[in-house]
Amino acid sequence: MDAVLALYFFGVIIGHGISIGNRTQAAYDAAKALALGQSDFCFLLIYGGTGNGKSHLANAVTIALNLQGRDCRLYDVADLLSHLRECVGDNTIEAEVKLLKEMYALVLDDFKPEYATAWGADRIEEIINFRYRASLITMLTTNIDVTQIPDRIVSRFNDPEMSKAVFNQGVDYRMRRK
Ligand SMILES: Nc1ncnc2c1ncn2[C@@H]1O[C@H](COP(=O)(O)OP(=O)(O)OP(=O)(O)O)[C@@H](O)[C@H]1O
Ligand SMILES: [Mg+2]
Repeated sequence: MDAVLALYFFGVIIGHGISIGNRTQAAYDAAKALALGQSDFCFLLIYGGTGNGKSHLANAVTIALNLQGRDCRLYDVADLLSHLRECVGDNTIEAEVKLLKEMYALVLDDFKPEYATAWGADRIEEIINFRYRASLITMLTTNIDVTQIPDRIVSRFNDPEMSKAVFNQGVDYRMRRK
């Protein structure tokens, strides 16, 4: 029943697929499969131009997993890095990083290398690497070219054994509103 609800909700948030064109279909299909436990991958990277629905899909995956009783949290990468810096001051950084490493599903939205200091990049890599080794559901979105993503991150999303990287070719929904 929970899975049915999640599937229903996935359709609702995406607008029953009405506005999903061919250019967004591959990203939509991959996100839906991940959210409903129907994928043969647990690492999903969605990249592509601005405004084409990456955060929308990231939210849909998170809500659909939550509806199935799964602990899935979505973080904007810049916000997460600010939060982690605060945790250093509070002496809670180790516990917070442990949580991020071990939670059932983690969605990191809008990765941009320039957000991260060397320290921040190391924390993100540490979390992703742990989750990769443990085969835990991990989704990353970005609107930068994949060649700009640090190799140690992108290579884990390019592993055919457990990952999928999808180029979302959709055009900017924000522009379509005009
Ligand atoms: N399938 C969809 N149907 C209708 N509206 C959508 C759909 N996907 C996204 N949108 C809307 O289009 C706008 C842009 O979507 P979103 O923020 O997900 O893009 P993005 O790819 O994350 O952009 P950016 O790269 O700038 O972060 C949002 O207002 C969102 O609600
Ligand atoms: Mg976004």
